[in-house]
Amino acid sequence: MYKNQGLFFTKIIFTSVFCCSMVAQAQTGKSVIAAKKISPDLFGLFFEDINYAADGGLYAELVQNRSFEYDPTEKKEWSPLSYWEYISPGYSYGKISVETTSPLNANNPHYLVLEPLHIGKEAGYSGESGVGIKNSGFAGMVIRAGEKYNLSFFARQLSETPVLLAISLQNAKGEILAENTITTGSKNWQQYTVALHAKAAFDSASLVILAKSTGRFAMDVISLFPEKTFKNRPNGMRSDLAQKLADMKPKFIRFPGGCLSHGDGLENMYRWKNTIGGIEERVEQRNIWGYHQTAGLGYYEYFQFCEDVGAKPLPVLPAGVSCQNTGGTWRVGGTGQKALPLTEMNDYIQEVLDLIEWANGPATSVWGAKRAAAGHPASFNLQYIGIGNEDKITPAFEERFKMIYNAVNTKHPEIIIVGTAGPGPNGDDYEKGWKLADNIAVPVIDEHYYTSPEWFISNQYRYDSYNRSGSGVYLGEYASWGNKLRNAIAEAAYMTALERNGDLVKLSSYAPLFAKSNFTQWKTDMIFFDNTRICLTPNYHVQKMFSTNSGDVYFSNVITKDDKDSAVAASCVQDSKTGDIILKIVNYNNALKSVSINLAGLSAIIPDAIQTILSGKPDAENTFENNDNAVPVTTPLQVKKKFVYAAAPMSLTIIRIKTRK
Ligand code: AHR
Repeated sequence: MYKNQGLFFTKIIFTSVFCCSMVAQAQTGKSVIAAKKISPDLFGLFFEDINYAADGGLYAELVQNRSFEYDPTEKKEWSPLSYWEYISPGYSYGKISVETTSPLNANNPHYLVLEPLHIGKEAGYSGESGVGIKNSGFAGMVIRAGEKYNLSFFARQLSETPVLLAISLQNAKGEILAENTITTGSKNWQQYTVALHAKAAFDSASLVILAKSTGRFAMDVISLFPEKTFKNRPNGMRSDLAQKLADMKPKFIRFPGGCLSHGDGLENMYRWKNTIGGIEERVEQRNIWGYHQTAGLGYYEYFQFCEDVGAKPLPVLPAGVSCQNTGGTWRVGGTGQKALPLTEMNDYIQEVLDLIEWANGPATSVWGAKRAAAGHPASFNLQYIGIGNEDKITPAFEERFKMIYNAVNTKHPEIIIVGTAGPGPNGDDYEKGWKLADNIAVPVIDEHYYTSPEWFISNQYRYDSYNRSGSGVYLGEYASWGNKLRNAIAEAAYMTALERNGDLVKLSSYAPLFAKSNFTQWKTDMIFFDNTRICLTPNYHVQKMFSTNSGDVYFSNVITKDDKDSAVAASCVQDSKTGDIILKIVNYNNALKSVSINLAGLSAIIPDAIQTILSGKPDAENTFENNDNAVPVTTPLQVKKKFVYAAAPMSLTIIRIKTRK
């Protein structure tokens, strides 16, 4: 089966050499332009639920702890009532408890029981009365005037009499922004939905559910979504954040995480089947980064989002082992890895195979039918699967990885498996991961490194010497330590080297992607946000400039630079769909640097080109208050077949040139 996958890549390379020699093999002065086909999927995204990227972030749910499943094992101070406030305005009183005896779903054991005993009617009191609960979401709910919010919850009436519920969205003063009512009626769990139309706006609002009559009832999965989500998907994404990703035109998205995938112990592994179906059926769990995952943003939503932004899905499944830092200190070389017992591996392997059927199988297949029932009868066209995340390459890992790898290869030779080579650019796990990849011919290996900008500048030639007949590379996680312009420009220099090596490097993604202000576990990130604002780092702009200007053919010898100056880097690609030639010039120096460009021998160019430049002071950073300190600027540029380009200090320039058909 490996042979088939080998063929997949070999085919691309042979075809490319053939076509490319027809595209360009021209004598341009002293040097010959050489063309090679490069990966069309080179620049993508890695989404991990870290820094409140999912719940409280991209996932548009406004209620926090909607299912009363928060627990002290996640944060010592948490309980099932965390983020809920018991309220009894107007001299009312009642009882509140969290129970588990007759849950809505075994996956979701806790639910709320509310017993309004007295609704205050004091003489002379004119304010609101009732017994109920209040939730202020993730540091407040953003409510916009004129917009619709959809509330849903499950309830079970425990008293003989129905209970009238007043539902409202309120500002900090308790003024009503939107309101509606519901009366409980069913003695069995039943879902209730109600629309709330906001007549006024508030950035830090609360949801209030107030019983206006006495009785007793149970409630669970109290969920509030804006009607306007990205592409108006129900259970969807926050549209402003999602749009920033869509704007990048990523070729793929790796999800649901790195460490989050393999988890803090076997019970904490991310199991995809726990994350599909109705939100009330999903298994919520502790997030390895110290908070809670509702799994509301689950596999269906990830796949749908990939489709909505035109990216290939790249799910990462645990290799049957947990994170090596399980229960221990977070350090490279942790020894806490736990492995699934071999007796459980057949079931686990079946889980991996079922994912492929769920994503790609016909709607008549067992798992394809679940995808169709969720609203997507067509295949999701899954091509890549990651097995493992920077795991410690132990004998236990190797054994389980091979079992999964062989089973997937046998049943699904069309799937490209991405293996793993540890958490660093070198070292024991790197060596062992690559050795294993070479031994069993894993098609693509995932490398990770977080290091200094200087490292990125001085290691630009890393992939030039990699074996071209072995596994391909996925640079799945990388970032230089910081969000200043200099960090982004160092990454840009490295990305030109990824293009130069795009025959070997199939995929790459910066990490981490999102960080919610004040809810952050990882310092250097690509996009910072709070409930209303987004800060795009210079690193985001570099990633976007590359991914929206990618090509599938690489030309060497088009741009000539001072070979001794590794702080200047450049690449030239062509997008064969549009025919456009794209030049990227990076200058990590603090002075202007010139490069010579010779386009003779390439397709005939149209002189009216555009240049997009990101440049500025090396220490420039973007903030919520000033998001425009370091942003790219696009202007027209007249180009000739041969010209000299002076690149601004600390800059990335992209010149996009149209060609005649
Ligand atoms: O990107 C943050 C973390 O870095 C990932 O979860 C992990 O794979 C890596 O160590």
